[in-house]
Amino acid sequence: MKHVSGISGGVLLLVVAAALSALLVCSGRGPVSDPALAFAHVGAGRRVEVAYRAWRERDEAAGGKISVRLGWSKAFSTEFTRATGRATIDPERGTLRVEVAGLEDPKAHEVWLVDDVPGPGKSARPETGDRTLKAGTLVARGSKGILEADLRDRLAGFEVDAVVVTRAGTDPTSSGLLFGTASLFQRMARSAREGEGKGGATDLDRLVAKGADLFFNETFAGNGRTCGSCHPSENNLTIDPAFIATLPARDPLFVAEFVPELARNFEKPELMRKAGLILENVDGFDDLETRFVLRGVPHTLAMSTSITAPPPTGDEPVVLPAERTGWSGDGAPGSGTLREFANGAVRQHFTKTLRREPGTDFRFATEEELDAIEAFTLALGRDEDPDELEDVRFRSPLVARGRDIFEADDAEGGTVAAGKCDQCHAEAGASVSFVPGGFNFNFDTGVERIPDSMGDLIDAPSNPPDGGLGSAPNPGGGFGDGTFNTPSLVEAADTPPFFHNNAIGTLEEAVGFYNSAAFNNSPAGRFLADPRTGVAIRLDATQVAAVAAFLRVMNALENIRSSTEFAVSAKEAGHARAARALLRLAIADARDGVEVLECAGLHPAASTALREAVSLLGKASDACFAFKRRARIERALRALERAQEDMVEGPSPLAGRGERGPI
Ligand code: HEC
Ligand code: HEC
Repeated sequence: MKHVSGISGGVLLLVVAAALSALLVCSGRGPVSDPALAFAHVGAGRRVEVAYRAWRERDEAAGGKISVRLGWSKAFSTEFTRATGRATIDPERGTLRVEVAGLEDPKAHEVWLVDDVPGPGKSARPETGDRTLKAGTLVARGSKGILEADLRDRLAGFEVDAVVVTRAGTDPTSSGLLFGTASLFQRMARSAREGEGKGGATDLDRLVAKGADLFFNETFAGNGRTCGSCHPSENNLTIDPAFIATLPARDPLFVAEFVPELARNFEKPELMRKAGLILENVDGFDDLETRFVLRGVPHTLAMSTSITAPPPTGDEPVVLPAERTGWSGDGAPGSGTLREFANGAVRQHFTKTLRREPGTDFRFATEEELDAIEAFTLALGRDEDPDELEDVRFRSPLVARGRDIFEADDAEGGTVAAGKCDQCHAEAGASVSFVPGGFNFNFDTGVERIPDSMGDLIDAPSNPPDGGLGSAPNPGGGFGDGTFNTPSLVEAADTPPFFHNNAIGTLEEAVGFYNSAAFNNSPAGRFLADPRTGVAIRLDATQVAAVAAFLRVMNALENIRSSTEFAVSAKEAGHARAARALLRLAIADARDGVEVLECAGLHPAASTALREAVSLLGKASDACFAFKRRARIERALRALERAQEDMVEGPSPLAGRGERGPI
């Protein structure tokens, strides 16, 4: 009896132990609401490092000088100005050269250098406690203001974080007109010069992880929004009416609906809910009642491929913005960089009141936080455009024809209709093909003149004309030169609605837009017009469908690339929680692939395989034991491969090449 009960006691113990260990393994479950955790484990620092090395090569070719462009800063400027400039520092020689155009009285302005000193309550804005150095007063030369200064002794030990142009007699900690800041890469190069050895993939992994945490969780002491409020990870870092409809009524996205101080002139709630539009004061905060535009939220994927500004032409002293961000390519005034975008966004979207008083209504990010956010945004999505799309063997004749039309630029003698898309969206990315070097241009393609856009139909008076790049009054209404920035198209199919004003809801209709009078009569349309017919682009309905099918398949292939990357990282992740956070993103991408294909009835076998991957990744996420999770991920990866093989023969154009390939 004793013996028997001993045995059953042992069995019981075993059962309890097994249950306990299952519980322990499963304890990593629970809601994984933190996408930052996923980005901490995806090894994305390597991407930033590759981009940094490419930048270093260019920088060394340019002589290692630090060059920052100067402009009105949405975040920091204390008054609005259209003036722009450039500051070039030669660290070897200790010289500074500044050139500013557009100031009424250049000699009434001074140039300051700022070395940010971190401390409690401090931010990247020039503040009391920072080291400042007055480099000198501008001298009028022609229409420009120039300063040439020898700062040799004074620059020793001084780290230039910002260059500021102020009115003479004021100092940059209290006011300033033009701002420019050193980028993450310039700062990394400086650390390397000074032997601090920052860089390397591990350091960068940590920096990207910190950036992800800030992006998704930091409210900057504001109204409760985070960057992720408008750029959520599970919705391709953008929002649209369908996603907005899933949010609870008190989501901070809707602060204008329940915070009385933000009820007027902060958002247009109806346009946000029904058309996914966000209010932006891109031309300054001086006149909130009339000076604003409504824009869709662009995804922040593949940023490293889509922000390189074209080089100056002729003897233009400066070309602003330094990087092409936002729909007008100047979403981040100041020097216009991706880095400065973050603080511009904080002032625009995070404030508790319309006074927008830093320290009271929100806090600005610190230089360290800007480093992290910049690294994170550079690590998102693809880091290179496809190569040689014309050689890709698409299995669907419709898709192959769509590719040919997309690339064809001359109807004369050609056998396919000329879509001319590749001229501005080279290899389905965001760079032009008529100037080599991967530059991202702005064009006026007539989108502002689309009749019956969604925003206008809902509430035209709250949706004023958007003048695009710059801030000079536009004859067509609004402020700017009428041009908008070219977005990448690989990510288009799963990020509707389309264009800067979310005017169009489906990809097919967005392609069809290029047939319209609005496009063909636009400056870009007239430029591309065939001299005999006066028409730039005219595609039949079948051809529109073919081009859209091509873009859908490109997007699905990118979904597979990205899903694979997250799934492989999940397989390797040591922690169950991290694995689940990664799997969530892998699942979201695979689901997007299904949607993008099924919407147009393309590649049913690929969407079946993608559905299977979604289901297996979901089961992997539910697995209590690591070995089970890994086995299911393995099977999901094979399903993703099958989906890809159904669409292309041979390597995917999104698979990446060499060291910049998928992680
Ligand atoms: C309330 C919504 C909202 C919030 C919050 C928000 N953004 Fe945005 N974001 C937008 C909109 C709208 C645009 C387009 C702006 C434009 O065209 O000028 C944009 C554009 C961008 C772009 C440019 C993308 C491109 O393709 O050029 C970046 C980068 C970006 N946001 C980063 C951030 C960061 C970093 C934060 C947090 C500090 C943030 N955003 C918070 C709505 C938002
Ligand atoms: C002259 C340059 C130019 C040409 C040619 C061109 N595009 Fe565009 N494309 C742009 C610009 C600029 C935008 C952004 C316009 C805006 O929002 O105001 C854009 C936006 C788009 C969008 C919306 C993307 C999004 O995420 O909202 C799609 C889709 C698109 N283009 C497809 C095409 C196709 C297909 C063709 C060929 C039939 C083509 N484009 C030809 C410059 C061009």
